[in-house]
Amino acid sequence: MNALVHPTRRVAGTVTVPGDKSISHRAALFGAFAAGATEVHGFLEGEDCLGTLRAVAALGAEVTRKDPGHYVIQGVGLSGLTEPGDVIDCGNSGTTARLLLGILAGQPFTTVLTGDESLRRRPMDRVMEPLGRMGARALGRDGERRLPLAIAGTRPLAPIVHVSTIASAQVKSAVLLAGLWASGPVSVVEPAASRDHTERLLAAFGADILTKGNTVTLTPGRLLTGRLVRVPGDISSATFFIVAGALAAEGGVTVRDVGVNPTRTGVLDVLGAMGADLALADAASDGEPMADVTVHPGALRGTEIGGGLVPRMIDEIPILAVAAACADGATVVREAAELRVKESDRIGALATELGKMGVHIEEQPDGFRIEGARRHGGGPAFRGARVSSWGDHRLAMALVVAGLLADGPTVVEGIECIATSYPGFVPTCRQLAGEECIEVIT
Ligand code: S3P
Repeated sequence: MNALVHPTRRVAGTVTVPGDKSISHRAALFGAFAAGATEVHGFLEGEDCLGTLRAVAALGAEVTRKDPGHYVIQGVGLSGLTEPGDVIDCGNSGTTARLLLGILAGQPFTTVLTGDESLRRRPMDRVMEPLGRMGARALGRDGERRLPLAIAGTRPLAPIVHVSTIASAQVKSAVLLAGLWASGPVSVVEPAASRDHTERLLAAFGADILTKGNTVTLTPGRLLTGRLVRVPGDISSATFFIVAGALAAEGGVTVRDVGVNPTRTGVLDVLGAMGADLALADAASDGEPMADVTVHPGALRGTEIGGGLVPRMIDEIPILAVAAACADGATVVREAAELRVKESDRIGALATELGKMGVHIEEQPDGFRIEGARRHGGGPAFRGARVSSWGDHRLAMALVVAGLLADGPTVVEGIECIATSYPGFVPTCRQLAGEECIEVIT
């Protein structure tokens, strides 16, 4: 499935975006092993999170869909998960696979995980190494580095201090979750803070979890109880429209009820530093802060991104590259080699596909440099072209936004992957940029 995208001058309106992907995964997983019912509102019904719901059902939790985005998960308690009768397919979702591995490490049975072609390429040793030290045994492809992988859990697991060389919420979460079935405290030390949704939600379920600087410690032994979870809008989805609103010649965009957890708002800080006309109005919050985010068109300037900012905006770098291509001056992204092991090699993919659209982008081992076209309001910054999503949802959506700002029609090939995180993306684009801005073609 492809998108034929037509350029537009105006991007305007007020929208909401679906629930946060990271929090939806966690609500499903924690709901499964907590005692009693967890009721989730705003659950993201994208392929990735639906896969997590299927996984927890396979492990013995009862999942009921009440309404769109409204689920009840009947938890089985910390000793109630049961051996699944078949392989669990994690689809395209690294979060499903890695967080499940953490949970499965502490279960007294064997589970086999697999995933799609992209996920089977992605590294699992980053979680299997610490989980192995805690006592889990695994057999998988490429020396337990890749799915399919069979994990035989054990209980209790050994307490560890895991010093991680990468700032990864998936690694941190896998080890902390395994810690629920350990005989003593488990700590993870990160080089920079990654998203803290696990810490917030586990604490809300009753876990003893403490953060000091970049060290998080979970002490097992507490009873975890199911609860009501309200999932805020996903800032990673909202950013596509925030950038489109900033770069269009005219209009203005408000995205309501966006999750603005400080470990996720690096992209707002960067857009602010680039000169974007952004305003945040606090909205009611429940464990996770929320805000309405408004943006108006305006000129942007180039910037530098590295260090602790990278984990705070790791998923937004493809769309940030689109903003950088329109800015005045160069934007440099460094210390972001993690981009190479996401749903696609996002550094290689951006260089290739934005290159086809006439962007001056130079690939580097751990990032890229973009020479901005300084084209805000004064003409298109992209050449209409035929580009590919590389099967990566965030690349597909970033290229659609670039297509809206191009000098002629753009074809984005392979847009079905958008359904992994944002099934309603095309209709919301049409709402903001006009009904005729995107045609879905085969
Ligand atoms: C996620 C963490 C990030 C992010 C991914 C979701 C999570 O990955 O890229 O989309 O929900 O924990 P890493 O923690 O591997 O960087």
